[in-house]
Amino acid sequence: EKGGHDYFMLKEIQEQPAGVADTLIGHYAGGRIILDEQRLADQELREFDKVFVVACGSSYHAGLLAKYAIEHWTRLPVEVELASEFRYRDPVLDRSTLVVAISQSGETADTLEAVRHAKEQKARVLAICNTNGAQIPRESDAVLYTRTGPEIGVASTKAFLAQITANYLVGLALAQARGTKYPDEVAREFAQLESMPKLVAQVLESGDRVREIARRFAHVPTVLFLGRHVGYPVALEGALKLKELAYMHAEGFAAGELKHGPIALIEDGLPVFVVMPSAKGRAVLHSKLLSNIREIQARGARTIVIAEDGDDTVRPFADHLIEIPSAPTLYQPLLSTVPLQIFAAEVAQARGYDVDKPRNLAKSVTVE
Ligand code: M6R
Repeated sequence: EKGGHDYFMLKEIQEQPAGVADTLIGHYAGGRIILDEQRLADQELREFDKVFVVACGSSYHAGLLAKYAIEHWTRLPVEVELASEFRYRDPVLDRSTLVVAISQSGETADTLEAVRHAKEQKARVLAICNTNGAQIPRESDAVLYTRTGPEIGVASTKAFLAQITANYLVGLALAQARGTKYPDEVAREFAQLESMPKLVAQVLESGDRVREIARRFAHVPTVLFLGRHVGYPVALEGALKLKELAYMHAEGFAAGELKHGPIALIEDGLPVFVVMPSAKGRAVLHSKLLSNIREIQARGARTIVIAEDGDDTVRPFADHLIEIPSAPTLYQPLLSTVPLQIFAAEVAQARGYDVDKPRNLAKSVTVE
């Protein structure tokens, strides 16, 4: 049942190309993005003037990525918030607000209560969920299911990649409803999504290299993660994986914040992951991150750099280089997250921990 793996989580990491591909099935036909359930009029979908994304944990990190795509494609303002904060804050909601609730289980108490609060304020709710008929989709006005199959490992892996995919489908559905993207543009983005499973599989093929790096750092006290733009939520997710699986102190930062504090943490031998933006797609950010790597390396950090294949500029500053295939900026997280999952799983195993059942954690957090 674990497909020859020691743990479900390791199998689920390997299932990610299929999880992304399956999430696309049935969501595009006749030149249009299609939701699974829609209990609101097309006109309502067209007339939202604001989007909130609410979620917890890894689903929140996927939500942070939704903001980049939805704002870029629809020009709607998007706020992303932890569900546990949103519901106690009196957010400004009305019937022209769309609340996107992301939950693998569909049963997370904080996210469910955020949905209920939003509905009380007359906002409309769209759920992205991996579990058919769970409470959150049942109480929502529209649903898009991630179709990655049940996730057994407590740490979210394949659900996370499927959520990113689903977020982008929702972004495209809104863009098509609002007319901010022409049908041929929607078709192009969908084709890009369809090309991703093959690239995710390529990243998985280089897993041995990542596992070898992980074993070297398995017993350090702290690991930091830096990223910018879509690489920032990836850094947060990499740190969360390491905390929950390896019980290691790990923090993700927006690289631009380094000089505002975190650089004080850098000391000799400290491993720091850096998620590089594409040199072609984001040249300005790429050069800024290069100078960040230089700065931390000069202060003794051991840099572990995730960069696009053929990005030779990073080589001199990478103590360890993990190459991923090139992809347009918005899609890069589907690739750059994978080595971080493999890293955390390998460190946890090297420390002798059960990666399917990390201590103190439940798969679905149904109490606050
Ligand atoms: O089922 P949900 O997506 O609502 O769960 C949200 C979080 O509890 C979940 O992502 C948690 O952070 C995972 N353990 C992360 O790996």
